[in-house]
Amino acid sequence: MENKIIQQILQAAVQAPSGDNVQPWKIEVSENLTQLKLINLPEKDNSIYNYEQMASYIAHGAAIENIVIASGQLGYKADLELFPDDNNPNVVAKISLLHGVKNEEPLFPAIFERHTNRFFYKKVKISEDTKQSLTAEIEKIRGASLLLVDQPSKIDQLAKCLMVNDRLVFENKQIHQFLFNMIRWSKQQVEDTLDGMPVDVMGVNVMEKMVFPFFRFWSFVKFNNYLGLSRFIGLKSWWNMKNSPLIGVVSVEGKDKVAFVQGGRAAQRCWLQITKEGLAFQPIIGLPLLINRLRFNNLDLLSHDQQRHVERAATTLIQTLNLSSDANTMIMGFRAGLCAKPKVRTKRKSVDSFISGNIHTQ
Ligand SMILES: Cc1cc2nc3c(=O)[nH]c(=O)nc-3n(C[C@H](O)[C@H](O)[C@H](O)COP(=O)(O)O)c2cc1C
Repeated sequence: MENKIIQQILQAAVQAPSGDNVQPWKIEVSENLTQLKLINLPEKDNSIYNYEQMASYIAHGAAIENIVIASGQLGYKADLELFPDDNNPNVVAKISLLHGVKNEEPLFPAIFERHTNRFFYKKVKISEDTKQSLTAEIEKIRGASLLLVDQPSKIDQLAKCLMVNDRLVFENKQIHQFLFNMIRWSKQQVEDTLDGMPVDVMGVNVMEKMVFPFFRFWSFVKFNNYLGLSRFIGLKSWWNMKNSPLIGVVSVEGKDKVAFVQGGRAAQRCWLQITKEGLAFQPIIGLPLLINRLRFNNLDLLSHDQQRHVERAATTLIQTLNLSSDANTMIMGFRAGLCAKPKVRTKRKSVDSFISGNIHTQ
């Protein structure tokens, strides 16, 4: 395989989203460039959300899907083996790149366009064709399913559940500190780290931007919570969701690590299709991840009150969406709508910094 092609495939892989843009991967490339091993780096994400590497496996699923799409576009078929090493759960996938026919992959350009948009969306009618195209993309991943909601009263109910996570960011010190450590406050810091999230992608308006830097101090947040800060943050999140024309939930069969990778692949296809349709997208994965921890009886890190918020949101979500089957896992909630593109985008570390093995892709 030509260097140029593997470079393009790897460039596509590392564009994938990850929780707070931690980029929890390393890629081993074989000498003849036709085999990739995608390795998880658990130390990159020690947040409450990443229980049993659930968040990182979703991110790996997204990276895998980018590899599949880019390979097809460039004349290769990506043959996947998930978790090939029984003794090492950090080897997420072995991917063989087989020579095939060059296919026009409609989602390929969207890999480089996709981003998270946390600003306020305009309520536009989302066409049936768009909704069907999202379902069609999700169905390409075995075991994945999609629920779409555009009825305002139902959106309001879901918004009240999904906002719980944003409120918790300001009520739980551990969640707060992980997130704020990943915010990059200056252009210099963005360029120095090439990970995390520039403050300008956080969805704050000009006024909020003046006080937002103070929010990184837990004592400031804790004091202002007496004045209703975390409630205000929850309300803002609810308002943004309530006024979005479309809310969706991606689920997948199973509860194990394969389910999270498959869920990540499906979530990525959905996100790329929405990008292709010219719509804005915000994933809401924090709450589903906490709900999954709750299913494993492992939410002790939250206070009693905070656990109750998650439990209540889980019950309402399950009832509202008729998510009756306990055999399924909720991977991602999202909102979609119309919005100007954010002026600033998150960065990625260079492909070379992720590669290991004795190959050089330059
Ligand atoms: C597992 C996972 C969880 C995420 N959770 C959230 C979330 O709850 N809310 C949110 O606004 N963004 C969430 N994101 C989006 C990431 O913060 C975002 O993808 C990352 O910062 C890179 O930015 P980009 O999507 O603009 O490329 C999540 C992404 C992943 C993969």
